Amino acid sequence: MENSLQQLKAEAEEALCRISDKAGLEAFRVKYLGRKGLLSSTMKQLGSVAKEDRPRLGQLANTIKKGVEDLFADSKEKLESGGGAVAADMDLSLAGRTIGFGKCHPITQVMEEICAVFEGMGFAVAEGPDIETDYYNFEALNIPKHHPARDMHDTFYVSDSILLRTHTSPMQARIMEDRDPPLRYIAPGKVYRCDSDITHTPMFHQVEGFLVDRKVSFADLKGVLTAFTQRMFEGDLPLRFRPSFFPFTEPSAEVDIACVICSGKGCRVCKRTGWLEILGAGLIDPEVMTMVGYDPDEFSGFAFGLGVERIAMLKYGIDDIRLYYENDLRFLEQF
Ligand code: DAH
Repeated sequence: MENSLQQLKAEAEEALCRISDKAGLEAFRVKYLGRKGLLSSTMKQLGSVAKEDRPRLGQLANTIKKGVEDLFADSKEKLESGGGAVAADMDLSLAGRTIGFGKCHPITQVMEEICAVFEGMGFAVAEGPDIETDYYNFEALNIPKHHPARDMHDTFYVSDSILLRTHTSPMQARIMEDRDPPLRYIAPGKVYRCDSDITHTPMFHQVEGFLVDRKVSFADLKGVLTAFTQRMFEGDLPLRFRPSFFPFTEPSAEVDIACVICSGKGCRVCKRTGWLEILGAGLIDPEVMTMVGYDPDEFSGFAFGLGVERIAMLKYGIDDIRLYYENDLRFLEQF
C-alpha cells in the first residue's frame, strides 16, 4: 500500500506538470481527487491493512492527498491567471541566460604555474600539514626556544607545542628525516602569521624548494632560481643575491629580481631601486642536516622559500594583497 501511495503521488505530480488547459485540469481532478478517484479508492483499502500499520499508512495517505490538493490548487491558480506551463506571453525564441563557469583562484593559478616550472626541472611535489608542531616549524630548522628569529614569525599558537605553520620550511625537515639523498622537492601550501596590512594577510601561500646531493653549491641555487624567474616572468630579468640571515641556511640570501614594471630603471613599484625582492634562499645549514641524520661532510644542499601572493602581485601589477581575498568577482574574473 505504501508503494502504491508513493507511486500515485509521483504520477499525479507528473500529470499536473503537463496540464495546459482547463479541460486538462478538470480531467485531473476527477481522475485523482474525485470521490471515485484514484486517491479515494486507494484510501479505502486502508480498512484491509494490518491494524498496527493503519495509523502510519493513514497519516501518509492524508499527507499525500493534501500535497496533491495543494499542487492542484497552485496549477489551477496559475492557469487561471494566464501563467500556465507555456504562457501566452512567453517568448521561447529568446536566448537563455548563460551559466557562469567557475575557475581557479588567481593565487591557485600562480601556485600551479610555479610548481609546473619546478616540476619541469625534476622537482617532486610534497604537501604537509598546516597545523604543525613547534619542533618542525622551529627547532628542526635551527630555531631553538627564545631564539630572536621566532619574533619575526608572529605565530598563531594552538598550544605550547602545536601551532599554525608560519612557513613551508618545516617540509624540509619532514622530508629529509624520511628519505635519503639525493632529494629534489618543492612543497607548496598555506602558511599563517598574525599580520594584516596592504602587503600582509593572516593566511598566505608559500612554495618551499630544496635540493640535497653531493657537492651542491651556491652556483646550483643561482642556476635553478635564474631558470625559474626566466620562465615565470617571461623575460631575461637579472637576479641579485643580497646577503641575509636565516637560521636554517648558511650562507643565506634574499633574492631580488629586476623590477618587472620598469626593467630596472626605477619606478614607483620598486621604490626607485630597480629591484623587487622575491624570495629567501641559501645553502642548508649543516646543523639542520645533522638533526635529520645526514652527514654534512658528505651531503650539501640548497633551499629557498617564495611567497606566492608576492609573485602574483608582481606578475599582475597588483599593489594591495587584500584584493585577492575580498572575493569580488569583478577582480577575480580578470585572471
Ligand atoms: N621560511 C622563510 C620565511 O618564511 C623563507 C625561506 C628563506 C625559506 C630561506 C628557505 C630559505 O628555504 O632557505 O621567511
